[in-house]
Amino acid sequence: MKAAIIGYGKMGREIERILTERGHETALVIDTDNAAELDAEHLAGIDVAIEFTTPETAYANIRTCIEAGTAVVSGTTGWTERLPELQALCRERGGAMFYASNYCLGVNLLFRLNRQLAAMIERLHAAYDVRIDEVHHTQKKDAPSGTAITLAEGVMEHLSSKNGWVNYAPGIERATNRVEKPADAAADRIVIGSVREGAVPGIHTVTYASDDDRIELRHTIENRRTLAFGAVVAAEFLCGKTGVFGMDDLMQ
Ligand SMILES: NC(=O)c1ccc[n+]([C@@H]2O[C@H](COP(=O)([O-])OP(=O)(O)OC[C@H]3O[C@@H](n4cnc5c(N)ncnc54)[C@H](O)[C@@H]3O)[C@@H](O)[C@H]2O)c1
Repeated sequence: MKAAIIGYGKMGREIERILTERGHETALVIDTDNAAELDAEHLAGIDVAIEFTTPETAYANIRTCIEAGTAVVSGTTGWTERLPELQALCRERGGAMFYASNYCLGVNLLFRLNRQLAAMIERLHAAYDVRIDEVHHTQKKDAPSGTAITLAEGVMEHLSSKNGWVNYAPGIERATNRVEKPADAAADRIVIGSVREGAVPGIHTVTYASDDDRIELRHTIENRRTLAFGAVVAAEFLCGKTGVFGMDDLMQ
């Protein structure tokens, strides 16, 4: 597989290592210093581009790949209100794209468990309130995390009492990962607590609490290698396909 890396930051560098380990070629690396080289000419002959940049630049990068007819895997978070637009463009052009807010296999198992648990709680009409908490390193720019939003959407799919979410992100660099529910949050909103501290790669917890007990689903990422690995596996999956894909397709 001949790959392009768009965004040569923490993820881009890890992805390059994994591409090499798995016998692939990194034929093009794009970062801010050569961003103008992201065009059809430089993408010619590339099987798949892997994009991990910033919320401000992801849309244009992915669009350029689709318009150039290059399959693209993206994991950039914090911009996905415009994702459906690019998915439609990709379908229209007969292109190939893969997007996941989190490429870790374990997190995607958590997504499935989360949906199943929400459906079970709904069937029981049980008196549990649900909240989501996420903790990440202080360099993470967006809050809540894309993973927390996906978890909230998974809950809303099944739990009729929840119709939206509200983010509660108290002062960054707090010493604790416990946040209280904001007093003004409506009962039909899922509270997502976001904390930025230290070098934490990512902790996500879904909590159902009643007056009498508590259920917690928690996933902790130990390092970013697991994320880069998933992105390379997604690129291998996407190679030679057309369409719009996500982790549910990969994990079938
Ligand atoms: N989906 C996932 O599994 C997953 C995992 C980790 C990180 N992320 C997300 O991926 C993104 C990148 O994460 P990171 O930790 O590598 O960040 P980073 O800050 O280390 O790297 C981002 C890189 O993108 C470069 N960049 C900025 N604008 C660019 C442009 N126009 N063209 C090319 N490169 C450009 C920056 O110079 C930087 O090198 C963030 O949005 C992060 O939240 C997603």
